[in-house]
Amino acid sequence: MTDIPAAAKQAVRQARHLVVFTGAGVSAESGVHTFRDALTGLWARFDPMQLATPEAFLRDPALVWGWYEWRRQLLLGVEPNPAHRAIAGLQQTLPRVTLITQNVDDLHERAGSRDVLHLHGSIFAPRCFDCGRPHEFAGAPAMASEQALEPPRCSSCNGRVRPGVVWFGEALPEGALDAAFAAAGDCDCLLSIGTSGVVQPAAMIPDLAARRGATVIHVNPEPISVGRANEYSLQGPAGQILPLLLTND
Ligand code: APR
Ligand code: ZN
Repeated sequence: MTDIPAAAKQAVRQARHLVVFTGAGVSAESGVHTFRDALTGLWARFDPMQLATPEAFLRDPALVWGWYEWRRQLLLGVEPNPAHRAIAGLQQTLPRVTLITQNVDDLHERAGSRDVLHLHGSIFAPRCFDCGRPHEFAGAPAMASEQALEPPRCSSCNGRVRPGVVWFGEALPEGALDAAFAAAGDCDCLLSIGTSGVVQPAAMIPDLAARRGATVIHVNPEPISVGRANEYSLQGPAGQILPLLLTND
C-alpha cells in the first residue's frame, strides 16, 4: 500500500482552494482505455494523432466517427471507480474545489462531481461539423463490433456530425482554459491524477500551480519526476490512492 506523506494529506484536507486535474488514468480502473492505448482492432494500426484531427475526419469520416462512437458505446457499459467517487467526495467536503479534466468521458459527472471543466470536450456532445448545431444521440444504432460507421447528418444543414471533442490542432473550448489557468494560479493545492503530461496547453496546469507555491501532488502508477519541495509523486493507481486522501488518520 502506498504511503502518503502526512504533509501531502494535510495539504489536501486543509486546502482553501483545491484543484483536481485529471487525465485518462483516472478512468483506467473503470476499464476505459487511456488515450494512448485506445486504439484497438480496426484502429490499432493508427496513432491517435492520425485519427484525432479534423483532417482525418474529413479524409475518412466513417473511420473516425466509428472510433469515437465505438468508444462512446463502450463507456455506456462502465462505471465510475473509487477515484472518481473520492474526487466527488472532496468536492462535497472541501470549501472550494475546481475539477479540470482532459477526459472526454462522463465518469466524473456520474460519480457525483459537478461543474467539471472539460478542457478537451466531451464524447457525449457531438455537433455538426459545418454549422456547429448540437446533435442528439437518440436512437444511435448499437455497434456490435469495432467498425467504420458513417456519421449522422445534421438536422439543420445536413452537414456531417462530428464528435464533440477537441482534436489536435483545434482550439480548446472558449474560456475553459482561462478558467483552468485562473484556478491553477489561485489554488493552494493541486492534485494531478492519471496524466502523462504530454499534451499542451493542458500539461502546463500543474506546473503553473507549483510555481505559484501550491502543493502539487501527482498520482500515477509511473513515477513522476518532481523538482520542488512543494511537489509529491504518489506512485500507484488512483483508485487505491485517492480514497486514502479522504480517510481520517
Ligand atoms: N491511475 C492513475 N494513473 C494511471 C492509471 C491509474 N490506474 N493507469 C494509467 N495511468 C496513467 C499512465 O501512467 C499515464 O501517465 O495515466 C496516464 C495516461 O496518459 P495518456 O494516455 O497520455 O492520457 P492523458 O494524459 O489524459 O492524455 C492527455 O492527450 O491526446 C490528448 O485528448 C487527449 O486528453 C488526452 C490528452
Ligand atoms: Zn449543420
